[in-house]
Amino acid sequence: MKKSYIAVFDSGVGGLHILESLAKEYKNENFIYLADEDFFPYGVKTKEQLENRLTLIANKLSEMDVKAIVIACNTASANSHHLKEFIKIPIIEIITATANYAKTVTLNNKIGVWATNATISSNKYQEALSDVVCYAVKASDLVELIENNLLNETIPFVNKHLEEIKDADSLILGCTHFPLLSEIIKEINPSLLQISSNIPVNVAVKKLLDELDLHNDSNDLQIIKLYTTKISGELKDKARRFNITFNSVDYLEIK
Ligand code: DGL
Repeated sequence: MKKSYIAVFDSGVGGLHILESLAKEYKNENFIYLADEDFFPYGVKTKEQLENRLTLIANKLSEMDVKAIVIACNTASANSHHLKEFIKIPIIEIITATANYAKTVTLNNKIGVWATNATISSNKYQEALSDVVCYAVKASDLVELIENNLLNETIPFVNKHLEEIKDADSLILGCTHFPLLSEIIKEINPSLLQISSNIPVNVAVKKLLDELDLHNDSNDLQIIKLYTTKISGELKDKARRFNITFNSVDYLEIK
């Protein structure tokens, strides 16, 4: 029997953007969303801490009824290379697809990237964008404010980070929390082209389902399950910012 769910995960609410767009695009597919709230924020952790945590998460998801894993987190994507050695189900990381997509939309070949400190330290975006000019900005200072919906408090940081990429015509929102700042960024700089991972991830998921013949062909109602790794997690309330209906909300122990 075919496995049923596509697992999408992030440290918190950011990846819900990706889930929202995937669930809308692929109505026949069922999804599990895992927010690793207990280990949030990822962006200030070391490479070793992140790799160890990702091993636990990927192992846990592989034990579930999961046919593919979408790492809806740039920081995790940047530290996910080792998973391919022992995880049998296909994994989609989002940095390569997002960087390649950005190169198709920039007009001046100058691309800004805002991402967490750990993502920028990994150099993954800089490597993927080595054939254009890349302004890589460590922006972990925005993440907790966004997670906690304190968007007005981000404005001084947004202004500072916009200054750091002022020659770029486009900006990769290289942390899945950052699309929640789109309106604020647009108000300050309406001509900047903002690039989020939604479109490239949708394309990458379709390619994978096509290639491996993993499409769900039943017409049953779509199921979307939400999991958090924090017992007293606030994810259910935070998730109200997104247009997603969850069938269940559960705690998932990672150890
Ligand atoms: N949303 C995550 C990303 O795309 C990370 C946020 C964090 O936990 O620091 O990198």
